[in-house]
Amino acid sequence: MTQTTENTLVWGLPTRLFHWLLALSFASAYILSDFDGLQPFHFAFGALAGGLLTGRIIWGFFGPRYSRFSDFPVSLSSIRLFVRSVKNASFVGHNPLASVVMLGIVAAGPAAAISGYLLYQTESQTLSLNSHLLEDFHEIAANVFLILVLLHLSGLALDVLLHQRNSALFAIFTGRKNVSAPPASINLFQKILAVSWFAAALSLFILARNLPVDRNKDDHERIRQEQNDD
Ligand code: HEM
Ligand code: HEM
Repeated sequence: MTQTTENTLVWGLPTRLFHWLLALSFASAYILSDFDGLQPFHFAFGALAGGLLTGRIIWGFFGPRYSRFSDFPVSLSSIRLFVRSVKNASFVGHNPLASVVMLGIVAAGPAAAISGYLLYQTESQTLSLNSHLLEDFHEIAANVFLILVLLHLSGLALDVLLHQRNSALFAIFTGRKNVSAPPASINLFQKILAVSWFAAALSLFILARNLPVDRNKDDHERIRQEQNDD
């Protein structure tokens, strides 16, 4: 029989660690994309975000309850019902609209990271793909990610206004919600999975941080352009 408690563990340590590392890495990758001299850190934080989110896909199948995709109520009928009764709605895991935003983030992050890596390879001439197309794709994926984060934060603000003391907000800090439900306990397999997840994401951070950067990229591009024009 599964035990139920009032102060229920909903987001275990791996989910909370994932969340705050993701917030840090996305914000850093996005902001650092504006600074040419800090490109290795843009790559590193971008790769960290991509690695964390790719791991989150695996966690969505093998992680604890409430973190599994099968626990995300994303059917049209759940969304409709939720929108109609948003004031009184209560969910142990993500609510239907939050679930849609989360799935969007899980798709946009790896798309931004993979296109960024392909763009890097193309700009360094180790891969011959259409760099303009890749750059557009990378920019769109990054901006879709940003829009989803803004929706996420607006949804949370609305939730705090509507539910005040019982808001979903506190659970991403404490892991617990004031609901009577079975806890999201983590078994040994999930602990090993979580350690491998963070180790792999950290390795990607280090590998991307050490990618060689062409410090005279603009000059080389100009020379190439002039050669093409001749
Ligand atoms: C770049 C910034 C952020 C990103 C990319 C982000 C992303 C995410 C993701 C992917 C989840 C789902 C977690 C999972 O199911 O494993 C989530 C949940 C959550 N996040 Fe964020 N987040 C960001 C910033 C924040 C901030 C600043 C706060 C609070 C101050 C916050 C509070 C929450 C809460 C409360 C949940 C759980 C929501 C629920 O119960 O449905 N997030 N976030
Ligand atoms: C979630 C992860 C990432 C986000 C949110 C992100 C975001 C951005 C943004 C906003 C830009 C500026 C686009 C523009 O204005 O043209 C950019 C450019 C770029 N990014 Fe990323 N990026 C991510 C991951 C990566 C990764 C992992 C790499 C490579 C390993 C990478 C390589 C590049 C390159 C080469 C550029 C073009 C720089 C230039 O030529 O000016 N990005 N990225």
